[in-house]
Amino acid sequence: MSHKIAVLPGDGIGPEIIEQAVRVLQVLELPLELETAPVGGAAYEASGHPLPEATLNLAKAADAVLFGAVGDWKYDKLDRPLRPEQAILGLRKHLGLFANLRPALCYAELTHASSLKPELVAGLDILIIRELTGDIYFGQPRGRRTATDGHFPGAEEAFDTMRYSRPEIERIAHVAFQAARRRRGKLTSVDKANVLETFQFWKDVVTEVHAQYPDVQLDHLYVDNAAMQLVKAPKAFDVIVTGNMFGDILSDEAAMLTGSIGMLPSASLDRDNKGLYEPSHGSAPDIAGQGVANPLATILSAAMMLRYTLQQAEAADRIESAVQQVLAAGLRTGDIWSEGCRRVGTREMGDAVVQAVKAGTSKTTTQS
Ligand code: IPM
Ligand code: MG
Repeated sequence: MSHKIAVLPGDGIGPEIIEQAVRVLQVLELPLELETAPVGGAAYEASGHPLPEATLNLAKAADAVLFGAVGDWKYDKLDRPLRPEQAILGLRKHLGLFANLRPALCYAELTHASSLKPELVAGLDILIIRELTGDIYFGQPRGRRTATDGHFPGAEEAFDTMRYSRPEIERIAHVAFQAARRRRGKLTSVDKANVLETFQFWKDVVTEVHAQYPDVQLDHLYVDNAAMQLVKAPKAFDVIVTGNMFGDILSDEAAMLTGSIGMLPSASLDRDNKGLYEPSHGSAPDIAGQGVANPLATILSAAMMLRYTLQQAEAADRIESAVQQVLAAGLRTGDIWSEGCRRVGTREMGDAVVQAVKAGTSKTTTQS
């Protein structure tokens, strides 16, 4: 049976990095049917909307979505519904992609690229699970109005709504406990229960769900403390589960521990493990079109797609071990380059992974 993959390159470096991931997928000679569509600023330019109907329909019909990146400063002045970021938010919402998996893995070869001391990050392997369709990102009501109370009645104000329902918390908690069970059996739930009703409720519900996973060790951290522990002793974490906004922030922080956000893939899954796969980094318009962007996060996202949605674990292993071989051979894009390594561009890095996949048979790796 052939699988349909919607390929959405997007803006900035999106098209360059997606091109390399597609080449790697093609080498595997799996029955994949790839169809490309515009998204983000590119789609706005082409048809006046960042998430055109046709693109959304393609994504809905596909078994999985391979996504590049969206966004450019030049769209910052557009009305919010027309900005490129709305494309990814719309896809998450319309496809029900509530579970965002962001592994932060520090490759042995890149220990020195981290901003932390090598001994703090060597061997780092944590998984951040971010709830992706609720919280203050999507909570209604939101908007601007004239204040009728607060510190300045009568003044213009803006507001958003932080909210989580029990089923939303329960389903992400199940994803997180199950992931922890497959890993080192440790889950940290991050909240702000000392101040926010929403996150006291979050903590209560996660604690209830824990009763079904007695084999997993659960602890709770306030988000400010979690941010601190992540730079103090990141290896103490295994799986972290948190809400949409805290997860947005903590996943960027965790990414940097590994040396480069250019290395990190992500999966956004619905309840049936259908998913959207994208690098954790953004569209990097400052280096777009120069052929210098690191394609490895996107290539590793394609591997996650094979593993989680297409149930092709062996093919995923082949890609992940190819990436490790290429790093071991000393190839580096600018973002991860260090003295003594060979500096390569986007395409050359893609070529190297393609060759390693062709040459390699699958070796089991530690990638989550
Ligand atoms: C992310 C990004 C998005 C988010 C933006 C582009 C809307 O920062 O995927 O982490 O805030 O979720
Ligand atoms: Mg983010």
